[in-house]
Amino acid sequence: MANKSLAKPHEETCILVTGGAGFIGTHTCVELLEQGYRVVVVDDLSNSSEKAIDRVRAITGTDAPGQRDRLTFHEANILDRAALDRIFSAHDIDAIIHFAAFKAVGESVEKPLEYYWNNVAGTLALCDVARAHGVKNFVFSSSATVYGEPDFVPITEECPKHEATNPYGQTKSMLERILTDLYIGDNEWNVVLLRYFNPIGAHPSGLIGEDPKGIPNNLLPYVAQVAVGRLACVGVFGDDYPTHDGTGVRDYIHVVDLARGHVAALDWMGGKVGTGAPSGPDAIQGQPAEDGSRRGVGVFNLGTGTGSSVLDVVHAFERACGKQLPYEIKPRRAGDIAENYAACEKAREELGWTAQYDLDRMCADSWHWQSMNPEGYATAQ
Ligand code: UFG
Repeated sequence: MANKSLAKPHEETCILVTGGAGFIGTHTCVELLEQGYRVVVVDDLSNSSEKAIDRVRAITGTDAPGQRDRLTFHEANILDRAALDRIFSAHDIDAIIHFAAFKAVGESVEKPLEYYWNNVAGTLALCDVARAHGVKNFVFSSSATVYGEPDFVPITEECPKHEATNPYGQTKSMLERILTDLYIGDNEWNVVLLRYFNPIGAHPSGLIGEDPKGIPNNLLPYVAQVAVGRLACVGVFGDDYPTHDGTGVRDYIHVVDLARGHVAALDWMGGKVGTGAPSGPDAIQGQPAEDGSRRGVGVFNLGTGTGSSVLDVVHAFERACGKQLPYEIKPRRAGDIAENYAACEKAREELGWTAQYDLDRMCADSWHWQSMNPEGYATAQ
């Protein structure tokens, strides 16, 4: 069966966003709606809140009469094929941006079966139902974790993939392979693998942001919760790495920039920007469709190109919130690498996308969200 066309105006294009109530999902819905797209969200709310969807409506004006049907929400799990089938039947979906996944590295070691089942089997179910409805445009939420301990920094898309150290990372790597094989088996597929570095920050409105359940695993939400008084002290995992201050270096990227990277990827898939040139050994340049839509597998890093240490982040957050934050040096965390940051040339040349916001702005927006919503969505109206 042929694939749907993306070589048409945004206003005529409907995007299915799985995990659309989550941190990156909500921000991507905002950018899609602001660019004119219609959006259908599927989310099982296992790690998110429907209040986040109301906030997306408030930001984008899709709570107004006449605008509401530009955004539809379905509470469903991607493993529920019958529910997916109903959703694809109810909406004329053109492309999928697939965020829905479990994402806690440590938890994935404890619960490999749950992670492989949810992330891998869930994606297979999604692809199968999508294919039955002739939808083969697929943007996948991948991760810099697929590079493992990178051969070099900045990490280009040419950098070889390495074995992930945990089941979560394995699911990302495996799904990249699976989606590539879908294209190899059927050249109508149009797949983009977006390898995220470390998304942080929040929408400047302060209405949506990161709201992890329980004690945060990641640095930024932890720091933000210390700043707001929910947690006592930041633990810095290791100060003896070969980096400028001994603490781990990562490429933090503003979630709004990251979200815009997805919108750029859709334009690229529609043949509206770029040359379609492959980006690295994992990419495949297929024969474009007659309407100019691309076919193949695109691979792009989404980062800023700037590495910041744990202490750089703590100090940037101190500037944002206007107070000193207590921190304590702890042992290294198992599986962590010293340093990773992205080379961003491919995304700039092909997608016409570059990150706009620096670390101070990321921390300022994160603090705005956290101080306006100290308990996240839990107490939101
Ligand atoms: N860190 C601390 N204290 C904390 C939490 C983290 O010092 O309480 C440090 C880590 O050791 C690391 C840095 O802060 O040096 C960033 O850690 P995060 O947990 O925020 O992010 P990671 O880089 O470990 O992981 C992120 C994503 C993963 C993804 C990985 C691959 O969360 O989903 O990047 O690049 F797989």
